[in-house]
Amino acid sequence: MERWHSVSVLSDIRPGEVAGVRIDGHEVVLWREDTPAASLHAWEDRCPHRGMRLSFGFVRGDAMGCLYHGWQFGAAGRCRLIPAHPQVRVPASIHVRAYGVREHAGLAWVNMEGTDGFPVHATHWPDDVQPVRSVHVRRGATQLRQAIGLEAVDGMAWRGSVGLAVHEPVAGQAMLHVVCARSGEPAPTPVALSHWASRLRDAVESGNPTATIMGELA
Ligand code: FES
Repeated sequence: MERWHSVSVLSDIRPGEVAGVRIDGHEVVLWREDTPAASLHAWEDRCPHRGMRLSFGFVRGDAMGCLYHGWQFGAAGRCRLIPAHPQVRVPASIHVRAYGVREHAGLAWVNMEGTDGFPVHATHWPDDVQPVRSVHVRRGATQLRQAIGLEAVDGMAWRGSVGLAVHEPVAGQAMLHVVCARSGEPAPTPVALSHWASRLRDAVESGNPTATIMGELA
């Protein structure tokens, strides 16, 4: 099913950095160009040469390099350099599968099926947002969404200036992303929010009520 997944807080993927993430069990590499534009990309985490994970690779300017034999891939995923044969004109058929990616509300959003239909509710989310933290929760996304009062699978729950999103990398495991709008209602400090997220995780994993913890944000 086509939908946008909130895979990471943006502070975890700075210019020149590479990160491996999972979406419904699929391996995805997230990388950001080391250029003034610093565009973000989301690709299948598999080199078309011998299948090496690209998330083990490196960024060179606006290209992603594979660690194994150094093949380099441009922004659209097409291979543009084979170091062992630098004179070879690389066929267009050699490319990595690229996914839709958006940066919004302090989060990286990935759509494995296309680039359309960004969550309609996203227009109501603040733009000037500080990413705080992602927390791994050893419970499924449905349970975590219920704990934070989030109904839409591709939505965010906002409590004052604090925004929460849930991602399920694999069944039974979830990531809670915490961000904070820079303007608007006063919010806890990032350090306090980080501790708050840990307490919420502990409550969800223990099966304890979360209403009191959530109430701290209201
Ligand atoms: S496996 Fe990636 S360049 Fe060979």
